[in-house]
Parts: sequence; C-alpha cells; structure tokens
Amino acid sequence: MTSSDIRQKFLDFFAKRGHAVLPSASLVPKNDPSVLFNTAGMQPLVPYLMGRPHPSGNRLASAQKCVRTGDIDDVGDSRHLTFFEMLGNWSLGDYFKEDAIKWSFEFLTSKEEGLGLDPARLYVTVFEGDENAPRDLEAVEIWKQYVPENRIYFLPAENNWWSPGDNGPCGPDTEMFYDVTPDGLGDMTHEQYVAADDAGQLVEIWNDVFMEYEKQDGKVIGKLGMRNVDTGSGLERITMMVQGKSNVFEADMFAPAMNLIKESAQNYTERDARILSDHLRTALFLIADGVTPANKDQGYILRRVIRRAVMKTKILNVEANTGINILNHYINFYSAAYPEVAKKGIMDIFKAEDEKFDKTIQSGIKEFEKGTDAFTLFTTYGFPIEVTEELASAKGMTVDREAFNTQMKAHQDSSRAGAAAKFKGGLADTGEKTTQLHTAHHLLLAALQKVLGKDVHQRGSNITEERLRIDFNFDRKMTDEEKVEVERQVNEWIQTNHNVCRREMPLQEAQGIGAEMEFGAKYPDVVSIYFIEDEAGTAISKEFCGGPHVEKTEGLGTFKIQKEEAVAAGVRRIKATLS
Ligand code: ALA
Repeated sequence: MTSSDIRQKFLDFFAKRGHAVLPSASLVPKNDPSVLFNTAGMQPLVPYLMGRPHPSGNRLASAQKCVRTGDIDDVGDSRHLTFFEMLGNWSLGDYFKEDAIKWSFEFLTSKEEGLGLDPARLYVTVFEGDENAPRDLEAVEIWKQYVPENRIYFLPAENNWWSPGDNGPCGPDTEMFYDVTPDGLGDMTHEQYVAADDAGQLVEIWNDVFMEYEKQDGKVIGKLGMRNVDTGSGLERITMMVQGKSNVFEADMFAPAMNLIKESAQNYTERDARILSDHLRTALFLIADGVTPANKDQGYILRRVIRRAVMKTKILNVEANTGINILNHYINFYSAAYPEVAKKGIMDIFKAEDEKFDKTIQSGIKEFEKGTDAFTLFTTYGFPIEVTEELASAKGMTVDREAFNTQMKAHQDSSRAGAAAKFKGGLADTGEKTTQLHTAHHLLLAALQKVLGKDVHQRGSNITEERLRIDFNFDRKMTDEEKVEVERQVNEWIQTNHNVCRREMPLQEAQGIGAEMEFGAKYPDVVSIYFIEDEAGTAISKEFCGGPHVEKTEGLGTFKIQKEEAVAAGVRRIKATLS
C-alpha cells in the first residue's frame, strides 16, 4: 500500500461513515494570528469545535498539511518531521467515544477497509484523571472490546490531555501505539510499557481527543456546550508501519530522496541526509502555500529550513543538482494530492534563496582569500569547518585544520564569547530573551538539585529565543508535584531578586568550591563562574559558563516547564519558558 492509497483509504473509510471530506487548508492559517502554521488537523476547525455550525455538517474528515517547527531539533531520528500530513476525523457534537474508538481500531486493523495492522502489536493509553476531568473509565470500557485490558495504560494530563495551545477547545485523549520491535513486546506492565515507549520501541500512531472542555490562559475553565471528537494520525508514521519500515525516511515519500542523496554524497551521514530530505519537503510545501523567504514570521522559518538544507548539501557533499532532483521527486510525488506543489515559480524562489545564501558564503570565501582565517568564517558566517574546507577546495585551496583548531582553542581559553560558543548552544546570541533564559537555566539546574537531589547534573543544553532546554541525569520521570515544586522554587528566586555575578578563577579553585560543570566537557585553566546569590552573598547557584546573563533575576518574568521527557536511558530533558 502506498502513502497515497492510505490517505485515500482513510478518507473513503470516514466518508462511508457519513463524514464530509474537506480539502487540506493552507499551511498558513487564515485569520488566526496566534499560530504561524497549522500544527494539527483541527486548527482550521477551531471555531466549529467551539460551537459554530460547519457548512459541511457535523462529521468531517481531512488530510491536513501541518508544520511543527518545535520538533526541528529532533528531525534526524526515526520519526520526527517538520512537515507532515495529519489524517483526522471530527465529530462536532455528534458521535463520541464509542464510535471514535471503534472506527480508529477498525481502520488500523481491518484488512478490507483499513490498514490491516496487527492488533497484537497495539497498545493504548487513556487519561488517568485529575482536578479537571475524571479518570477515563468510559474509554477503557470501550477499548476492552478491542484490546486486552492489560494493554491499556493510564497516563497523566502531560501525556493524555490535548489542546492546541493555551486557549481553545481541549480534552482528555486516548492514544494508540504500535510495537515496532522485530519480535514483538507482548504483554507489559505499566513500567515496562513506559520504558518501551522511552526506548522508542513503540510509535504513537493515532490520537483520539474527546474535546468537551475549554482552556483559557492555560487553565481548563469548564465544559464546552458540546462533546466533540478530534482525531489525528500522522500519515508518514502510519505509512512506515504499513510498509514495514523502521523509520519514516524509508517510507515511500522519502525513500527516493534518501536514495538520491546516497547515490551522490561524497560524505554520507544518515542524520544529515534525513534532515536534508525533511527540510526540502517542508520548504516546497511552504513555498507552495505562498510563503517566501524573509527575516520574520513564516518567511523566517522558510529561510531557516532552506539554508539548513543548503548547508546539509555542502556537508554531505552531494552533486550540484541533487537538491533540485529531490524537489522534483517531491513535486511529482505530491502533485496529484496537492496540485499547488506543481505551481510555476516555486523552483525560482528556492533557487533565489539558495543564491542569496551562496553570496553570504561567497563573501566569506572572499574574506578567506584576503587572508581571513577559517575561524572568522566560522564565527562571522556560521558555517562549519567542513563547509569551509569544501568551498576552499573548490577554489583550489586548503584549510589549515590544525591552525583552525589552535585558534579555536586559544580563543576559547582567552575569550568569554569563545568559551561560550563551545560550551553552550547558542551563546553567541546575546539578545534580551536569550540572556534571560540563560540565567533561568542556572536557576532551573539549582532547583532540580534541590528537589531531586545533589546528584543531578547537566548533560546537555540548548537555548533559543523562545525556550531553554536542559538535559540532566535522572533515572525516572518527574512527578507532577516535583515539577510544580521546581517551578515554584525558580519563580521564588526570581521574585526575591538575586544578583548574578561573574568571577574568574583557576579551574582547580572552581572545582574546589563545587561549581557546576558539564560532564565530559574540557575546560581551560582559568574559567569564569557565574554566581547567583542573595543580598548576603549566599550562592544558590555556582556554574561554569561563558554567559551572557542578566545582572539581577528580577524582571525575568514567570518561569514555566513546558515539557519533561526522556532522551536516553537515565537522561531526562526539560523544555521551559519565561513569559
Ligand atoms: N489534535 C490532535 C493531535 O494533534 C488529534 O494529536
């Protein structure tokens, strides 16, 4: 079965059950300034889920184009994508849990009308209940008709409550997971199930949201006037299951792109090839929906994915026309379902941006020819040493790798900014928001140590203008109480206004006072330590860092944990924001 067969089968299945099939809306939402892109099939339907009658009736289905830029760092693994198609069916105050669950199960497993997936590989999660809504025993009763009860697991709101953002329709959900291990996992206890999910042995393939609640400013305020169903299933993931593949890039929409890269790359790496395949497809669909490269909003995202794709072509060292060949593959592949991808002028927009970016690279090369070193190319133009080497060799030159490394090291030893660039992601950015998030990052680590124990240390970090991310060693999921306490502690430190001071000291001394350092990182002989301390000089945080930081914690705003999840065995990840 091809991915287009699956899309069609899905729409036919729900059409037969009384659903009006809607075309995909544009990736760029109309009349909704709260989001840059449609991130779910329900996004264009929000007014109808809130009660406005839909002109096509109260049973709807679609395959909706979605872009989720929040997942961009995860692209390259087996299943994350920046663009994907979401298959969905909706009940606007019509059928509810019984039919929604029955049809999800039937479509996934029926050999005639559905995908014929193996029910013995199916696991289900349901909402465990909290102050907003009861434990979803009703969903369990319905599921018991289709899957053994010991394969149904209760999970908290973090997993099984879905909302498109801080405002709008929302509700508890039930999610379906498929076992992708070669031998099958069989029956699992709750703990085994969570571990298997953390280890990537299960892939979420469908989500049925029972949308009967409303959120305002991040809080559930009560029930809507009607009980809706909102479902979503990623076409690429479903295709990967049906086609028996272990990652989405082997599914039919991506396989030819990956092959084109494999055939022409001098320097093939699987992750770079996946990122290139993903980003070119995203760029194509964005341009097809009228987005053009720019320095803000949707245009900025497009510029970023195109430039990152171009970088990847250079790092992979593919033949000159590979990017174009991949785009042509996508245009052919998708033009029946999405005729807009075959519009005239798309390739021109892509080429113009490629050339513009190339000019930046070329001016970097001019600098290089003038005698400017690869290190400045790295810091000023942001391209990796591999790219400099590649571009230089095209001009018959070579890069002195050793000199580059020495310079990098000298810079790191002596310059705060240089040290920063090496030890923490994104430290070259000294914008106000980023700076605030750096300080919040230190407060967060200190709070984690206070709540979870002194053995918690940083394992990785990344900060953008929007959020901070910290990886840390801890061998289980944090409880809701722990998360609330960590948030409370950070906010208390912010409000009681602590000072942030930088002190330089010999490495040994820094180690002696127990300054926080990143595991496995190499440090110069003299390091800078940031102290966050109260008026009396008592430090709540001592951490090696290149900065930048605010001088006082007051003014950081409200700290909030957005997500806590596993990234590897014994390593957790938190994403958090200041608002
Ligand atoms: N709106 C739900 C989701 O995106 C179905 O998972």
